[in-house]
Amino acid sequence: MDPNSVVLVTGAARRIGADVARHLHALGCSVVVHYRRSAGDANRLVDALNAARAGSAIAVEADLSQMRECARLVAAATGWKGRLDALVNNASSFYRTPVGAIDERQWSELVDGNLKATLFTSQAAVPPLRESGGAIVNVCDVHTERPLPQFSVYTAAKAGVVALTRALALELAPRVRVNAIAPGSLDWPETGVFSEAERRAGEAAIPLGRLGTGEDVARAVAFLLFGNDYVTGHVLAVDGGASLVSR
Ligand SMILES: NC(=O)c1ccc[n+]([C@@H]2O[C@H](COP(=O)([O-])OP(=O)(O)OC[C@H]3O[C@@H](n4cnc5c(N)ncnc54)[C@H](OP(=O)(O)O)[C@@H]3O)[C@@H](O)[C@H]2O)c1
Repeated sequence: MDPNSVVLVTGAARRIGADVARHLHALGCSVVVHYRRSAGDANRLVDALNAARAGSAIAVEADLSQMRECARLVAAATGWKGRLDALVNNASSFYRTPVGAIDERQWSELVDGNLKATLFTSQAAVPPLRESGGAIVNVCDVHTERPLPQFSVYTAAKAGVVALTRALALELAPRVRVNAIAPGSLDWPETGVFSEAERRAGEAAIPLGRLGTGEDVARAVAFLLFGNDYVTGHVLAVDGGASLVSR
């Protein structure tokens, strides 16, 4: 990896995105930590990264449901050191939408926060990534193949991200590679969206015997960004084998 590589990770203030940012930073990247509302967490993370290596991280706020905000974020990231080598589209919103009670606000929030954000952030990043010969990794979800009941809007949005990954991989080759990670169950959402019984059943169904971690995702992201430049359009399940089990 070029030690001057600049990586933009969206939704990176906390949880999985923060683990991805820390991991790529530890590999030598300079990291742009994108956040929307979690300014305190983003700034604490950036301070820690800069304490480890001066001038190696910045935080940039943006609401990625707006196309112009996606473009502003990428411009800030690229303007920082005059280059962009990688984009990790990790930001997401996630909640139940039982059929019969789905409204347009939920549709917009879930589709825009997952699919629209991924498209317009990627589109804005294409010129600098073409210049650097860089790569994109989209974080989707293994449940696009085996949906969870009551999450149809989120599932459809993430399935769109899978389709987008393949479409952009084709369109942006040979200069820019585009891949995706499909995590299974990682850190449970903090919003209490899953009951205790659902959590227990979910964990019991993982052949490798444990929940995934942000570090598991981060190592897969690093592989797709920097580990093999002959892989594009691939969706890598990081789910402990959960998608192999019949329900
Ligand atoms: N956790 C799991 O078990 C799991 C399983 C499968 C797939 N995944 C995928 O893995 C990724 C990381 O998961 P996670 O649980 O760590 O995600 P998360 O906590 O649900 O969300 C990550 C961040 O996305 C940002 N975000 C949401 N909507 C946004 C918007 N409109 N504009 C800008 N930022 C926005 C939020 O930033 P602020 O806090 O700054 O507002 C949030 O902290 C996601 O893509 C998720 O779908 C997770």
